[in-house]
Amino acid sequence: MELSVVVLAAGQGSRMKSPLPKVLHAIGGKPMLEHVLSTATSLSPEKIIVVHGFEGEQVRQHFANLPIQWVYQKKQLGTGDAVATALPLIPKSHRVLILYGDVPLIASETLKRLLRTAPPTGVGLLTTFALDPTGLGRIIRDQNSDILRIVEEKDANEAEKQIKEVNTGIFVVPCSFLSRWLPALENNNAQKEYYLTDIILFAAKDQVQIISTSPYVPEEVLGVNDKVQQSVLERYYQNKQAKRLMEKGVWIADPARFDLRGHLEIEPDGRLDINIVLQGHNKIGHNSQIGPNCVIIDCEIADNVTILANSYLENVKISSNCTIGPFARLRPGTELAENVSIGNFVEVKNAQVGHHSKINHLSYIGDAVLGERVNIGAGTITCNYDGASKHLTHIEDEVHIGSDTQLVAPVTVKKGATIGAGATIRHEVPAGGLTVTHQLKQKTDIHWQRPKKQKPIAQSTEEETICVESQQG
Ligand code: UD1
Ligand code: CA
Repeated sequence: MELSVVVLAAGQGSRMKSPLPKVLHAIGGKPMLEHVLSTATSLSPEKIIVVHGFEGEQVRQHFANLPIQWVYQKKQLGTGDAVATALPLIPKSHRVLILYGDVPLIASETLKRLLRTAPPTGVGLLTTFALDPTGLGRIIRDQNSDILRIVEEKDANEAEKQIKEVNTGIFVVPCSFLSRWLPALENNNAQKEYYLTDIILFAAKDQVQIISTSPYVPEEVLGVNDKVQQSVLERYYQNKQAKRLMEKGVWIADPARFDLRGHLEIEPDGRLDINIVLQGHNKIGHNSQIGPNCVIIDCEIADNVTILANSYLENVKISSNCTIGPFARLRPGTELAENVSIGNFVEVKNAQVGHHSKINHLSYIGDAVLGERVNIGAGTITCNYDGASKHLTHIEDEVHIGSDTQLVAPVTVKKGATIGAGATIRHEVPAGGLTVTHQLKQKTDIHWQRPKKQKPIAQSTEEETICVESQQG
């Protein structure tokens, strides 16, 4: 039987207290609905239909490129009404799998098992046992353990509320049954909603077989209604990702302090210290390591690279054997050749740096091309911006630049030149030789005396005296 998947995502999610539609809130850097859609896609269904409502256009825009169908539910009259809006798009011969946009981590394997175990002409229901079932629909069974109906918390009596087996909301049912049962739903319940769950009662009455299956782990069926629940699933997801990488051989100092928000390609001998945020698409080569507290966004990092603590890298390419940081900031467009060293408090932006070059201390290199074996002294600045446009600085092979040099772009420093400390370079520097820009002679006044600190004037109250003392400290 061919399969249609219907994803319910019309809810506003008011408990998220956010203008962003709930299903666009992220787990692991990916909107919740994206998790659900990629799991749905893994089942190779004929159709995926998303029921959207609140801020639906924004949700649609986000997934504009995917081959899914959208239906708009004007008013949220309940889960039964939501599925009824999708019904006209589903061929009668299909089986229908119901998923939820705010239950993001349902696993493909669990759904495959549900589809496998559910009778083709019956209902397959995913249920689980909850230690705290508050707010969830309870599964009512008869003395033979056959499922009779689902009762929502708000409609349940005290005995029913004690039941720990709950409805996950996820189930599979032939479309032909839905077309029969959905029009018969009524909203005479505590919430005045059309409950999708009431179709279980119809199934039992019509003697349609109802088979239940459980998820492999309870987190798979947890829904996100507020940011506390979101954080619980975020940590579960991060732990799972960390575990997968560790099983591959990657050293992760602490999975509780690991945050992968996107895609990571890393060799098994990679090493990741604590508190690293990996965002977007990152690639990390053989024997490379990232120190504590680094942010790595969309980077390509080759083999034997060491990134030391507290470095921030975005959209950069780093060749093998480079050392970065601690406290380095590499901005988009930075490309480092092999064996480059970038030290502390260095910012590099849109710059190519040739192999074996060093920028080790307190520098800004922006819009620049550096050759091989260049040595940039501490406190060097490329003055790349004239207030209107950015200009390039070219520094050829084997140039040595003294500390505290300003290179006013556009400017070129030719091969092998040396620049003396404290220079302001405004014109092309010829190859070789020593270039300095200051003509001031150094002089010493041997009789000069250091000014002495004035004694504080005696104060009358104790309070003021304390104040003076603390200033001295
Ligand atoms: C639902 C189930 C409950 C189950 C729980 C599991 C019903 C009546 N109850 O309750 O048995 O234990 O899920 O989490 O189905 N939605 C729409 N349109 C609507 C109403 C809801 O698209 O008119 C969407 C929501 O965006 C959400 C999902 O359906 O993604 C579930 O709706 P919600 O109101 O959260 O259902 P629960 O009360 O949690
Ligand atoms: Ca509800």
